[in-house]
Amino acid sequence: MRNKLIAGNWKMHGSLAGNPALLQSVAAGAATQSNVSFAVLVPFPYLAQAQALLTGTSCAWGAQDVSEEAGGAFTGEVSAAMLRDFGCRYVVAGHSERRARHGESDRRVAAKALAALEAGLTPIVCVGETLDEREAGQTLAVVYRQLDAVMESLGVRRLPAIVLAYEPVWAIGTGRSATPAQAQEVHAALRQRVSNADWVVGSGLQILYGGSVKPSNALELMRLPDVDGALVGGASLAADDFLDIGRAAALA
Ligand code: PGA
Repeated sequence: MRNKLIAGNWKMHGSLAGNPALLQSVAAGAATQSNVSFAVLVPFPYLAQAQALLTGTSCAWGAQDVSEEAGGAFTGEVSAAMLRDFGCRYVVAGHSERRARHGESDRRVAAKALAALEAGLTPIVCVGETLDEREAGQTLAVVYRQLDAVMESLGVRRLPAIVLAYEPVWAIGTGRSATPAQAQEVHAALRQRVSNADWVVGSGLQILYGGSVKPSNALELMRLPDVDGALVGGASLAADDFLDIGRAAALA
């Protein structure tokens, strides 16, 4: 049985003054749920605050991006070792907002995942198709291409050290989640793709669903056989909603 992870992607939200209430509520709620893991993925400037408030709690923390470089003249970038310095456990690689806005290629995303892994972080690698790609019948081709780049760079034997997240771009921040059938189809296909290379790794791979996950749809999504948790954007900014999604995952 795969463990379920509920990871909150704060995106560019939060404030030094407002974060403690959210972090402390999430940590208190997470402590009451033993069979689900929680994490928050905060903007870089708040990592020290997350570390200070979450150390010793059952909520992990992490960042939303990482450089593929180890260090050097890369203005504005943050290395995986720096994230380790702040106690991060997770880092997102290849979120669609970064792929689209910052031109991150499949290769670059794979390099970021590798850099994270080598620093001892768990990369949460995002894959997902746009609406145009879905309507053109290219969903699986797109997510396979994105997954294959990571498999080639890491090697299938290292995939147990990553978390994969399927986030259909058209479902992110739109209020329109994938239907359970749509999510299950892609999750099962991704797992099968990895299983074709290594059955054991495929069976154990943790695959999160992301895209308009909220308390009202969490249970039906978390019950799907190949969904192992959620990457939650908007609903992670309200502690009650985020924890309710965790409760749904625990029940599923
Ligand atoms: P959303 O975002 O839950 O607000 O749709 C999910 C994500 O982008 O990770």
